[in-house]
Amino acid sequence: MKIDIVTLFPEMFQGVFEESIIKRAQEKGKVEIQEHNFRTFSKDPHQKVDDTPYGGGVGMVLMPQPIFDCVESLRTPLSKVILLTPSGKPYQQKMAYDLSKEKHLILICGHYEGFDERIRTLADMEISIGDYVLTGGEIPAMVLVDSITRLLPGVIQERSHLEDSFNEFNLLDYPNYTKPRVYNGMKVPEVLLSGDHQKIEQYRYEESVKKTTLLRPDLLEKRKFYEENK
Ligand code: ADE
Repeated sequence: MKIDIVTLFPEMFQGVFEESIIKRAQEKGKVEIQEHNFRTFSKDPHQKVDDTPYGGGVGMVLMPQPIFDCVESLRTPLSKVILLTPSGKPYQQKMAYDLSKEKHLILICGHYEGFDERIRTLADMEISIGDYVLTGGEIPAMVLVDSITRLLPGVIQERSHLEDSFNEFNLLDYPNYTKPRVYNGMKVPEVLLSGDHQKIEQYRYEESVKKTTLLRPDLLEKRKFYEENK
């Protein structure tokens, strides 16, 4: 998969993509990630990318020209263009799965007060990572790249994401334990030491349901709706 990121702050991505699983995924050729500073596409003599809003108001608005030219230089018939914005579709694990099947993603990061409305026409999809406002689309773009890359074949063990929280079963992950058996008086549940795989699977499923009921009952409601409407 190829991911192009259209941003004013390419340096923000350096550390994040140069560690751990995302770094290894790039080294293994599973994903190619490239940042593009759309300021370099500005036709303004001072490489201006924003201006005051028509009709008045505070702050600056990103102009269409640099972003249009940057995206058009990257786009092919296989590209899916995504605009990161708080008014986009709320991001969910299912969307990460769907996007992990794409060949080429172009992620547009807005900044400042906002962007010229006409920039929306470039996007096949608008995504929000949550109901809060960040200073720009860079952190949301990192969230997408991370959540999508880990799902690409050969990046992590497939079993590992089948057991993720928010997988297709819409249950939170079961509790995990490792050595030692007792820590500060807290014991690992006996069943996990039993070697009985059927019992362990049943225990983990029940714990997942318990945890979801307690912490995210809304997920169980969605699951019920899905079961009744599939
Ligand atoms: N840009 C600013 N805030 C955002 C959010 N919550 N999601 C996506 N893009 C954003």
